[in-house]
Amino acid sequence: MAQTSQEVVQAARKAGSRMADRNTPFIYNEWYVAAFADEVGRSLLRRTLLGRDVILYRTEGGQAVALDNRCIHRSYPLSEGFLDGDTVVCGYHGFRYDVTGTLVQVPSQDRCPKGVGVRQYPIVERGPLLWIWLGEEEADPARLPPHQWITEPDWVCSKGYFHLQGNYVSLHENLLDLTHLSFLHAKSFGTPDYAAAKFRAEINEGRFALLRDVVPTTLPPVWAKPTGMEGYPQAARIVRSEFMAPSLHTVAVRFYDNALPEADRPEFRIRTAHIPTPETHGSTHYFIVHGRDFAQDQEWITQFMHDELFKAFQEDVDGMQHLEQMLEKADDDFFEISVASDRASVEMRKYIKARAEAEAAQRLERTAEQPVQAPSRLAGVA
Ligand code: FES
Ligand SMILES: [Fe+2]
Repeated sequence: MAQTSQEVVQAARKAGSRMADRNTPFIYNEWYVAAFADEVGRSLLRRTLLGRDVILYRTEGGQAVALDNRCIHRSYPLSEGFLDGDTVVCGYHGFRYDVTGTLVQVPSQDRCPKGVGVRQYPIVERGPLLWIWLGEEEADPARLPPHQWITEPDWVCSKGYFHLQGNYVSLHENLLDLTHLSFLHAKSFGTPDYAAAKFRAEINEGRFALLRDVVPTTLPPVWAKPTGMEGYPQAARIVRSEFMAPSLHTVAVRFYDNALPEADRPEFRIRTAHIPTPETHGSTHYFIVHGRDFAQDQEWITQFMHDELFKAFQEDVDGMQHLEQMLEKADDDFFEISVASDRASVEMRKYIKARAEAEAAQRLERTAEQPVQAPSRLAGVA
């Protein structure tokens, strides 16, 4: 019976201890997608983001607003209250908050305590995405991860969402090594030659990419039909799969006819923005925007690709759930080994862990400087 030697187990555990996993704290100082823009309107949308309970709504003027969901009076969820104009009224005793989260009315008294309220989170709206900043550092829109193609006219996009029962680090790792296309996606957009195709990793500070050239190959229907290469064995599938930020992974693929000379062959490009926003350590909001830069006026292609892709992404969502259930049960015997195609994801996980722990240490320092008082029914009477 094969048994992994203790030496290998120890080495694997040592390597694993430097890599982010489901127990790693979240990185708050990043822009994350809170919702699709069309999900947020004139009612209170409740969403848990990085463990924080948040409400989202739009003002009468259409501006998106994000506030902490916990009323500062007796912690009633504001999502159970209602919007009155641009203000939020708590559904318990009627405390009223404006768009900045400032308390502006206490119905039981004339005087409203000054300078108190719920936390307001900065929001940036870009095309179909609403980005939120939950961190302590300044919310600088220049720090948004690069995704401008989504709003460029060359790219025809469709979008979708999964509520994924798994940690966001596992999802990033899934996206950084597409070896799994030949197995997890064997019945959808994977092909048997994908796993063994040549690959290389690109490692930069905060950016990790795995590049794979699958040439020549036969494309699966989702790409073969729209590019007119059904059943054709001389296709090229050139893939760049890249971690751009804890909140964004982009897969960019080029297809062409490998039998044609380079100067003459048309190229077909698709991109997919995989956008994980941690909900809890065991669940993730998984937003997806998919686009192509060819046959933009062919509505059937948009619909066909969308339907086929989301069937395949469902396989990832199911796979991540299986994984999460195994990881939840991890005991003292737990170890995992990595192979060459994991290089980019190992570096990515080390990066997440280092950043997350540095941020957590800063949080601890801040808390030590400003000790939080235990809640008291007598404290803070205003
Ligand atoms: S709990 Fe919100 S007003 Fe009392
Ligand atoms: Fe996948």
